Amino acid sequence: MASLEVRRSPPRSRRELEVRSPRRDRYSVLLPTYNERENLPLIVWLLVKSFSESGINYEIIIIDDGSPDGTRDVAEQLQEIYGSDRILLKPREKKLGLGTAYIHGMKHATGNYIIIMDADLSHHVSANLFYRKQKEGNFDIVSGTRYKGSGGVYGWDLKRKIISRGANFLTQILLRPGASDLTGSFRLYRKEVLEKLIEKCVSKGYVFQMEMIVRARQLNYTIGEVPISFVDRVYGESKLGGNEIVSFLKGLLTLFATT
Ligand code: GDD
Ligand code: MN
Repeated sequence: MASLEVRRSPPRSRRELEVRSPRRDRYSVLLPTYNERENLPLIVWLLVKSFSESGINYEIIIIDDGSPDGTRDVAEQLQEIYGSDRILLKPREKKLGLGTAYIHGMKHATGNYIIIMDADLSHHVSANLFYRKQKEGNFDIVSGTRYKGSGGVYGWDLKRKIISRGANFLTQILLRPGASDLTGSFRLYRKEVLEKLIEKCVSKGYVFQMEMIVRARQLNYTIGEVPISFVDRVYGESKLGGNEIVSFLKGLLTLFATT
């Protein structure tokens, strides 16, 4: 099945992609990690492969929050393999939350586009879809959506599905942000747009994703969407706990009251 899909679209030549993505474009991928020792080598390899095959200029910034499982050592090895111009390590001492990990990583990014994604292979690497979409509509943001078109979620239990749907549903009703997946975290931003949004954002944890899209709408930035399949992780476990749910609700109500 998969190989048929691949054959149907003609292979894109390196040159063709370079025309679509001018030489000056550079993509910085932010990969926040907390206990992702098993996943990191694979996701980095997939990214390197997909970027090099399409002749796209990139860097991968790994933001590890002092993972006790030794993720940082793995990241150092990857840096040796792929080079320090491609793999940047911007670790922090301890677990300080997902939202601030992106902010920390972004400060070191040299690309004019920033791609944010999870490091646990839940976001299957089709970063190409994101920059093609961006070029198509010259969007400020391209957001991966599980809740539109061919997008979906695989491997979650009912509880997790309800949490995600619930968070999206509540936010849609209270804030009407006009995007279909508000809590997803596979996105591409123009760097200056991300900087502007971060300036306005107050959340620190998972709620960050939702606040970013809501603020983007307020500031009239354009958002393109690409359907993505989110596949639950095989290795390690999710860091989304009760605390994150409480802070999501607090964040949502704060935004409702202040915007
Ligand atoms: N540096 C750092 N610090 N990284 C973190 C932290 C942190 O405090 N917490 C989580 N991460 C990293 C993980 O290592 C992983 O690469 C990514 O952030 C996502 O964490 P998961 O724990 O795998 O999240 P999830 O699968 O439960 O949730 C996903 O789906 C949600 C939407 O339903 C994520 O994509 C969320 O961002 C998203 O809101
Ligand atoms: Mn995950």
